[in-house]
Amino acid sequence: MSRKVIAGNWKMNKLPNEAIEFISKIEEVAARSDNEVILCVPFTDLFYSLLTAQNTKVKIGAQNMHWEEKGAYTGEVSGKMLKSIGTEYVIIGHSERRQYFAETDETVNKKLKAAFANELKPILCVGETLEQREQGIQEKVITEQVEKALEGLTNEQIQNTYIAYEPIWAIGTGKTATAKDASNAMQSIRKKVEEIAGAEVAQKIILLYGGSVKPDNAKPLLEAPDVDGALIGGASLQVEEFTEIIEYNDK
Ligand code: PGA
Repeated sequence: MSRKVIAGNWKMNKLPNEAIEFISKIEEVAARSDNEVILCVPFTDLFYSLLTAQNTKVKIGAQNMHWEEKGAYTGEVSGKMLKSIGTEYVIIGHSERRQYFAETDETVNKKLKAAFANELKPILCVGETLEQREQGIQEKVITEQVEKALEGLTNEQIQNTYIAYEPIWAIGTGKTATAKDASNAMQSIRKKVEEIAGAEVAQKIILLYGGSVKPDNAKPLLEAPDVDGALIGGASLQVEEFTEIIEYNDK
């Protein structure tokens, strides 16, 4: 795929006024680019971000959701709530949520189903720890995460799931997987998707790499075989860095 997905994950950063300013500044670059530009923002920035991004090519996503529609779940936000204000994307199963907020493959699967029930486009995250990589079991770990996450989804839903491979040892550490590591992981994921949903879905599904993507390493990673885009944390917080990545192929 020549058109890439460039998705930012702001994590717990930026106030609404900063979100408005950021989106206004990247709007023009996003309009010029063929790449799909997504920003996944904190809940408190969503509404302002959606308003600012209206009639632009910047798409807005959330970073998490609950699988129930409503109920006694203090502090949670449902897919229905996200959809009600026009949110388009939602990150599901980010490793920080698995690690610090006890998310499991089962809750990830429930959230994916709820995302589709609410017509949200999920960005599913998978990835191995350093320990698992050192044991050489990364392929097993990520394909199992994919299999459990996608359980019970229709082929159409699977095709519409963006899957981000984010090795945990590369997130926020400055250590990046090589283009070859990223490609290998994508190929394992595609093979697993083919087993589950057939060759056509496997060929069409969008696979992103995430983990210390920066302007100076974006090009080889994004051009690696089977990589359709990037999920970017730290470098999505700075206008200059993020726009350089959006325009990586103009250089
Ligand atoms: P990073 O984060 O780019 O800061 O490594 C990526 C992510 O966690 O999505």
